[in-house]
Order: sequence, then structure tokens, then C-alpha cells
Amino acid sequence: MFGHLHFSGLQNDHWHGLIVPGAVDGGPHNTIAAGDRWKASLNVNQPETTAWFHPHPHGETAQQVYSGLAGMLIVEDGSGERLGLPRSYGVDDLPLVLQDRFLDRNGAPVYQPGPMDIMAGYRGDTIIVNGAVAPVARVPAGLVRLRLLNGANARIFDLHFSDRRSFQVIASDGGYLSAPVGLPNLLIAPGERYEILVDFSDGAEVVLETGADRNVPMMGMMRGNASFAGGGSVMKFQVDSTKPAAVASMPKRLIDVPFLDRSKVVARRQFLLNDMMMGGMMGGMMGGMGFGPGERRFGPTMAINGQSFDMKRINVEAKRGTMELWEIGSQMMAHPFHVHGTQFQILSLNGQVPPLHMQGWKDTVLVAREAQILVPLTQLASRDHPFMFHCHILEHEDAGMMGQYACT
Ligand code: C2O
Ligand code: CU
Ligand code: CU
Repeated sequence: MFGHLHFSGLQNDHWHGLIVPGAVDGGPHNTIAAGDRWKASLNVNQPETTAWFHPHPHGETAQQVYSGLAGMLIVEDGSGERLGLPRSYGVDDLPLVLQDRFLDRNGAPVYQPGPMDIMAGYRGDTIIVNGAVAPVARVPAGLVRLRLLNGANARIFDLHFSDRRSFQVIASDGGYLSAPVGLPNLLIAPGERYEILVDFSDGAEVVLETGADRNVPMMGMMRGNASFAGGGSVMKFQVDSTKPAAVASMPKRLIDVPFLDRSKVVARRQFLLNDMMMGGMMGGMMGGMGFGPGERRFGPTMAINGQSFDMKRINVEAKRGTMELWEIGSQMMAHPFHVHGTQFQILSLNGQVPPLHMQGWKDTVLVAREAQILVPLTQLASRDHPFMFHCHILEHEDAGMMGQYACT
């Protein structure tokens, strides 16, 4: 499929989930000066999926996304139509960007993280969906497709319905699963997408809720806005019986997800995500450490394999056209690990086979202890325009929990 997208006016813009070359990926090396324009022509050639876009200037990503720069990208190749999935945008096919904010009296987001918030990630006391507080969707009395994107800086949503009805997960970050997976609740970490089908044919009103976000280190509990990590209602669904329900039944099978062959792996790499709690906190209190000019001026430092992000350092040199096995480890808290330029598959999660809904294409994986992923490397990324890999808690990313790989 060919797509042609024009975007201008941002300081920088990354296409999260698109498998495109480093030169047009919109990583931190693609900055756009104020008043300038960046025109990216993307050849989109990947299975039908729900992706998104957001700015990525190093040290500024958290602030910019929090201020509202993020949106959804839908890639279609006709497979959803062939499968008979709900596809009337805004009727039975709803894009839902889930975030949380502190809002001032005028409803403007307030972003003022202290060192504790950088360590724990910045959460707000108000959940928003597509920028709205407590929205209500009026849906037909049938199957409705929800494209869920966690676009929050740090909050992990633990989604369920108020009446505990179950739903079917049909897609993960990089496209459809091989078959729908029924679940009563769904954990979705920053950067992740899942698509679900919900059956509203009983006509009942129901609330989508989230449980508390438990991914808060002990220190963060005591101070900082992590105390706003509690659960609550996300949005409401009311059934409008005047809307025709286009889809009544669920397909049994979706698409053939080609499973990656582990024996093809040419390189194995390990990435330890360092929260650096103590060093980081001292650094924050002492006015900062390890930040270059133009980068963040205060706060904790985070790292991968002991190295905080450096625009000038290429951490990994990979060979284009090969596949690698990456092992990622976390320390104090769980980190959503994201890789640019690819869709990968999870080989194991905390030593186990991943749950069914995580067995499709992924570009972000929540690593509580450890994960092994198979990473196909198909796209060119030169040393001047490398791909990023990083924690998608945006405060962690900005504080240096990011590295870059060239792929040639
Ligand atoms: Cu959502 Cu480096 O990206
Ligand atoms: Cu990305
Ligand atoms: Cu993190």
C-alpha cells in the first residue's frame, strides 16, 4: 500500500509503529526548527494496523506530548473489510487515545515534573480520551471496535468494563492477531495499542474503567504526583438503538501471523534498563548531572546498560535484512520498551510464553522483569539517521533511558 503524508509545523514528528527508514522516521535527529517545515514522504508497506505519531526531540518529548502533540494513524490494506470487522469510523470503529493530565482552571495541561515525578513518571489526576474529560460514546447495539492507544506519559491503564463483560482483542501494536482473544481486562502500557471488539447488543449502558497503576516505585509513592496513580472511570458507552448495528458476529480467525523463526537469529543483545534510583535522585537534588547543552537542565539521569542517551553515540550497529534476539531487563519498576523501525515478536516474557494477545506484532513491550524479543531488521537507518529504542515512559526517555541503532 502507498501512503503519502504531509506534516508541518511540529518541532519534530515520529511515526510510532510505521516500518519506515531512519531518514523519515522522525527520531531526535530530524528536528524541525521553529517556523521551518519538514515534508516526509513515506512508503507505507505493512499489514493493516493502528499506529500513531508524536514529537521526539530529545529531552522535550514528554513536555510536547503532554501539551497535546499526538495523534492516531490508521493503516488499511483491505483485510479488515474482508474479515467483516466494524469499520464505520466514529460509529462502530472508534479511535480512543487514552491519556491523563493535570488541568488548570481553563482546562490547559500543567506539566511541572519534579525529580520524583521523573523517576516515577508523570501522572495526572484526570483521565482524558481524545482530549476530552469523561466522554460519552453513543454506539449501535452490536459489535463495536475500539482502537485503544495508550498515549499517556507514564500511566499504565488496566482496562475493564464496569459490568465486567469480556471483550475480544483482535489486534496488537503491529496489526491483527491470528484469532480473537477473549479477556475480561487488559493492561495497556504507554506506547502500546490494542484493538478490541465489544458487544453492546444487550443495550445496557456501561463504563470503561481502569484499575490503579501499580507501576510506581516506593519512593514515588511518598512524594510527587504518583499518588494520583489510582484507578477510575475512563469513559461511558450508551447504546443508541436508532444506529444500525452493522456487525453482529465475530470472525473465528483473523489473519495468518507469520511466526518468526528463532533459528534465523544472527545476533543476541542484552539491554538492562537502569532507573538509577539513588544516583538519579542525588543528581536531581544536586542540580543535575550528565546533561549536555540544550538538554534537560535538572533531574535524575536514566540509562540503558549504564549509558545515558547521547545523540552522538550509536549504541548498536545492526545488519539490514537480518533478525536479532534482544533480551531486555528491568530493575526497580516495569518499563515499556519500544523499538523504532520494526515490528517484533515476543519470544518470552518474564521467563514464560507471552499471553495470547501478545503473540502478534508488537513495537512496545512492558518489561516487568525480563523479555526476549525477535527483531526483524528490514529498514535502512544510517548513522546520521539511526533508529531509537527506549522506555516509553516519556520522563524516562527524556532522562536518558534511550539508545540508538544503525541498520545498514
Ligand atoms: Cu512513540 Cu520513540 O516513540
Ligand atoms: Cu516509535
Ligand atoms: Cu521507564
